[in-house]
Amino acid sequence: MFGEPGKTKFQIDLRRHLRGQNICDNLIHLICEVAEASKYVINAVRTGDLGVAGTSNLYGEEQLALDVLSDRIIKKRLVHSGVVCSIASEEMDDIYKVTSDTNGFYSVAYDPLDGSSLVDVNLAVGTIVSIYAGCDLFQEGRKQVAALYILYGPRVSLVYSVGNGVHEFTMNQLMEFTLTRENVRMHPNGNIYSPGGQRNKYSPGVENFIRHLEERGAKLRYSGGFVPDINQVLMKGKGIFMYPALNGSPNGKLRLLFELNPMAYLVENAGGSATNGTTPILDLKPETLDQRAPIFIGSTEDVMKAMEFVNS
Ligand code: AHG
Ligand code: MN
Ligand code: MN
Repeated sequence: MFGEPGKTKFQIDLRRHLRGQNICDNLIHLICEVAEASKYVINAVRTGDLGVAGTSNLYGEEQLALDVLSDRIIKKRLVHSGVVCSIASEEMDDIYKVTSDTNGFYSVAYDPLDGSSLVDVNLAVGTIVSIYAGCDLFQEGRKQVAALYILYGPRVSLVYSVGNGVHEFTMNQLMEFTLTRENVRMHPNGNIYSPGGQRNKYSPGVENFIRHLEERGAKLRYSGGFVPDINQVLMKGKGIFMYPALNGSPNGKLRLLFELNPMAYLVENAGGSATNGTTPILDLKPETLDQRAPIFIGSTEDVMKAMEFVNS
């Protein structure tokens, strides 16, 4: 018998796959560090106190909310990676500068625990990560050099792209990420729709688009977690997720740097599309860390149809 116990010779792990992507060693190292950090995040999600900040443990010590704890886990790993210069996360007020060195360094924007309020009701959550070369985080999403998410569901999966297809890995019993789907591709149209926000706050255009989808027989599939909802559209290879402008929230809810850009990069790399209604998400110029935008993302023809309705 050859190889390590529990491993078949057909399993390709994340590092090995990354080595075949023609990217520099620092980027491989960085993505692997994020994958390592996610193991501590999933451990915290599975065993931690249920998301209530300020509660105390058995010893009377203060517990951190899971999103704050996840942020610390990932930030620490990034700081010590030796290849990151700027860090921004949904949980931080400002950009954290690790070094002013830019040569061979990367910047990372991330949402440490998206959907953290869903942990209380035991629904799936995730970590979303966006990576740029150099120290500038205010670049168009199209300039990302990598994007990935880790989905903490019944299984833990990691989906990444470095601009050369979208690939899914699943955590095995040894807590290694092994390749489960390579070059995920999206069909031009689908029969799933995943609509965020309250429908009575939709514009007439978005409301008409929803009616159109319903008449077409599309099925509603919305969990309230951006990572599982996007993962469903991406892995089924068809459908549309939207979080439109709402009455009173013209920019919707989701954030460009931490949520929209990395997901748009992944979906575009799988042959799908993502728009705010007029402009591709990846062409929007970020101006503030907490910038939000409406989003229609998924199968290209469905996204085009959404644009027609929204702009009519
Ligand atoms: P977060 O937990 O990081 O603040 O984000 C939650 C997001 C996202 O996961 C989801 O798509 C959206 O909120 C759901 O919002 P609604 O409940 O308004 O549909
Ligand atoms: Mn979020
Ligand atoms: Mn979050």
